[in-house]
Amino acid sequence: MSYYVDSVEKFRALKTKEDIIVLSVESSCDETSIAIVKNGREVLANIVSSQIEIHRRFGGVVPEVASRNHITAISNIFNEALMEAKIKKEDIDAVAVTYGAGLVGALLVGVNFAKGLAYSLNLPLIAVSHVHGHIAANYISHKQLKPPFVCLMVSGGHTALLRVEDYNKMTMLGTTVDDAIGEAFDKVARVLGLSYPGGPEIDKLAASGEAKYKFVVSKSLKGSLDFSFSGIKTEVVNFVHNATQRKEHFNPADVACSFQEAVTEELVVKAIRACKQEGIDKLVIAGGVGANSKLKEKALASGEQEGIKVYSPVLKYCTDNSAMIGAMAYYMIRDGLGLAKLDLTAKPNVPLGDSEFHD
Ligand code: KG4
Ligand code: ZN
Repeated sequence: MSYYVDSVEKFRALKTKEDIIVLSVESSCDETSIAIVKNGREVLANIVSSQIEIHRRFGGVVPEVASRNHITAISNIFNEALMEAKIKKEDIDAVAVTYGAGLVGALLVGVNFAKGLAYSLNLPLIAVSHVHGHIAANYISHKQLKPPFVCLMVSGGHTALLRVEDYNKMTMLGTTVDDAIGEAFDKVARVLGLSYPGGPEIDKLAASGEAKYKFVVSKSLKGSLDFSFSGIKTEVVNFVHNATQRKEHFNPADVACSFQEAVTEELVVKAIRACKQEGIDKLVIAGGVGANSKLKEKALASGEQEGIKVYSPVLKYCTDNSAMIGAMAYYMIRDGLGLAKLDLTAKPNVPLGDSEFHD
């Protein structure tokens, strides 16, 4: 039988199979990761090889360098994952891969590795959106969590509020009209002379500062659930440049703290408003910026006041990893979604809503 006939048959059979073991591959940016996840929630292995140290000297991710390093790392990571999970290749039921959004050259390394693996093991290939993976990271950390919920998606590439009706059914309530929040964190960090990636550096520095500057998030979108961070980012950048030129003293920790205070307030106010508007009492935070301590603190405090339970993944599943892709793939398989062919390619952008891969 041909690979395609087999993979469709196996994919259909997985819908009702008791236990599903997914091997998942993630290479959308500067982390090469392969995980093995059982039934969407149990992580048997999650190997993450970070290139942060390599890109730090450039002050950001260099796409070509990222792709080359994924190629060097991926085979070893695959072997390591199998060893850590203590399983054999024959135990795998499906191969999942992030096909977008992200850097195309970087994504292609993971996509091609996953295609080769699926073909050689005669297994279904599941195409997973990176953003959906970030949401699913919460299923690993919170075993009882189920949709419906409102998701605040905050990463280097996305900022959005989503109504997640079911595992594979979501609608967008609001999004950024300009910069993603992670981009704003990274830019502010850079102007303060902090190293890449800037988000965690701002988080650390802000802890020793005071919110004494009144940087403001644009009021133009006050009534909507959309976001705009480019104005406040520019305000901070201009403040630092002007003060430096005039040789005026300022404490970078106060700048970091003031910026972080303003943007996390905006994110939390709109996320809580979205929950109330939708009549939903669960708020799920997803994406790298979800690791921010102030964001979590504010969301928990506001949630408690408003009777909304707030969830966010443990730190290692907030930032890029492949366990989250394996978790999402499980729920796609159960709903008969995500089966890709061997012509699967990488995409720089993927719609935030439902999966593109269905019959
Ligand atoms: O989700 P992610 O790892 O990659 C994307 O899908 O984009 O997010 C990366 C972003 C970067 O902008 C990074 O600076 C930010 O997440 N980030 C943080 C923190 N940890 C990571 N931002 C603020 N506070 C943090 N603690
Ligand atoms: Zn990410």
